[in-house]
Amino acid sequence: MKKRDLIDIKDFTREEIYRIFEKAKFFKFQRKKGCEVSDILKGKCIGLLFRKPSSRTRVSFEVAIIELGGNPIFLESSHLQISRGETIQDTAKIFNLYLRGLVIRTFQQSEVETFARYFDYPVINALTDFSHPCQILADYFTVWEIKKHLEDVVITYIGDANNVCNTLIDAADILGVRINVSAPKQYTVDEKVIRSMKNPNLLKISDDPYAFISESDVIYTDTWISMGDEAEKKQRLEIFRPYQVNQHLIKNAPENFLFMHCLPAHRGQEVTDEVIDGKNSIVLQQAENRLHVQKAILWFLYSGSSNAS
Ligand code: CP
Ligand code: NVA
Repeated sequence: MKKRDLIDIKDFTREEIYRIFEKAKFFKFQRKKGCEVSDILKGKCIGLLFRKPSSRTRVSFEVAIIELGGNPIFLESSHLQISRGETIQDTAKIFNLYLRGLVIRTFQQSEVETFARYFDYPVINALTDFSHPCQILADYFTVWEIKKHLEDVVITYIGDANNVCNTLIDAADILGVRINVSAPKQYTVDEKVIRSMKNPNLLKISDDPYAFISESDVIYTDTWISMGDEAEKKQRLEIFRPYQVNQHLIKNAPENFLFMHCLPAHRGQEVTDEVIDGKNSIVLQQAENRLHVQKAILWFLYSGSSNAS
């Protein structure tokens, strides 16, 4: 049986994403009842190789792997020989001898792809400069959980058209969700992302932060300075200032819109306390769902993709 990876959200079909959602709903229900442990990963050691900091992704993956009966092994990249020039190919071939899965957070998408080519077991992208599929699966699951469907939902992303924005758009294309992006011209949506859409009519782009507010069921923002962008901090803080999600910006939003943020938030920059702590904010539900959805991703990669139950 050919192994499956999650390198990019496009590795999954619409039908597979909904199977993952149903399984995540089941895992969430089980955990609330206190029955969180299963043996889907029994006896398997899964490496977590992180080249960037993480709170949610790392901890939720470690808990998910343990609750599925496996053993997570955290691999801080500066302690590995890849930090001294050992190639990804050689590292992957060595990991084949010990590990049965790899969760990777790094800079280049191509590094995750290279690991997936040379590593014989599932590889999961835990964020690159280009994409963040685990986050976005949890985000769409959260909207689906609240709204009970994704048809007719309109999502507006405001700010830096970064990795989170790229994957929100890619997933919208797969799921048939309408998505708007308000971003300054210098940091707008990557042409590559637009060109790869099967249904580009789902996407509207503007550099006006107010352009889509009144039609938004969801207003989503993320940091203006992603990990790796620190050298541009001064310039970015200046350019993005009009894109702050604050009370004034959301004045004409529908009353029951959902505010989303992948976290960590930079309060006072891309969002104000009033909005992120306000009644429309679902950021904690998003963060909680990382755990349930990642369990479902692991289930899918290790048994679900060949077994519909
Ligand atoms: N949202 C997210 O990926 O958070 P961490 O960087 O804390 O993992
Ligand atoms: N866009 C952010 C997401 C952090 C979870 C970053 O890449 O730093």
